[in-house]
Amino acid sequence: MNPNLKVNIGKLNLKNPVLVASGTFGYAEEFKDFIDLKKLGAIVTKTITLNPRKGNPPPRTCETPAGMLNSIGLENPGIEGFLKEKLPFLKKLGVPIIVSIASEGGQEEFITLAKRLDKIKEISAIELNISCPNIKESARLISQDAKTTYKVVKAARSVTRKTLITKLSPNVTDIAEIALAAERAGSDAVSLVNTLAGMSINVKTGKPKIAAIAGGLSGPAIRPVAVRMVWEVYQKIKIPVIGMGGIIDTESALEFLIAGASAVSIGTANFINPRSTAEIISGLRDYIIQNKISDINELVGSLRV
Ligand SMILES: Cc1cc2nc3c(=O)[nH]c(=O)nc-3n(C[C@H](O)[C@H](O)[C@H](O)COP(=O)(O)O)c2cc1C
Repeated sequence: MNPNLKVNIGKLNLKNPVLVASGTFGYAEEFKDFIDLKKLGAIVTKTITLNPRKGNPPPRTCETPAGMLNSIGLENPGIEGFLKEKLPFLKKLGVPIIVSIASEGGQEEFITLAKRLDKIKEISAIELNISCPNIKESARLISQDAKTTYKVVKAARSVTRKTLITKLSPNVTDIAEIALAAERAGSDAVSLVNTLAGMSINVKTGKPKIAAIAGGLSGPAIRPVAVRMVWEVYQKIKIPVIGMGGIIDTESALEFLIAGASAVSIGTANFINPRSTAEIISGLRDYIIQNKISDINELVGSLRV
């Protein structure tokens, strides 16, 4: 039996549904000694901005029960640095490259970045990171408001024909409402979730464990929240969902597929076991063979209620 692991996200045809989550896999070169990068469904880059950013002062991460807190602050070489220093390695891989972008200000920066990336044929898709806890338009994240989400996605949509993915924040009351706004504005897919707002304190010193005081919580600790959000969004929208949040093995990846994700991204698990992605890809193949499922897409949203 040769089961189908291929999935479609917008115009992208992926050989399997396993991606890496932005910011947890660098620009892929960092992982070349651990796994065969060519086996990945797609690679999502660390978020880039127009100008280089140094990120937040250390400490920027700390461990928490079943997870971690981070406040990296979007350290990145800026778009020109990315194109010059990072893209040459990525484009040789023959794996779809999804470039994550964010704005340090309003929607203009998203337009500039999307326009620039649209011209580069080796880039397969653009992920709009409108959910980074460190980049805020007014007091809120773009993805905490349906109208602002619509406006930013629509603006990016107007300058690129590449597959457009909108990354959503779990720090909202109704994530399906935000996903619907992204869909209406022309997004080809949504990815969820980004990190949950969190905070951790060193009681010996009375100080916060990370310098930014609060940060983003990720890892298995957030998985039930993320699975619930994927399920809620899946029921409301027609475009594909890319699910993430605490996936560490085949079983946790399956939870997301069954809840309605067409593909999954592996994030924090890369820091614990840099081979997680490869193990999950072969684990998913074994699972569908054992369960006599000919096409992995049959699992998507197959939750029995
Ligand atoms: C150290 C670190 C850096 C991250 N940087 C980014 C980023 O640059 N852009 C982004 O969209 N998400 C970023 N994320 C969020 C992840 O892509 C992912 O949405 C989140 O961690 C949940 O998945 P996980 O629990 O599997 O890690 C980062 C997460 C971590 C832990």
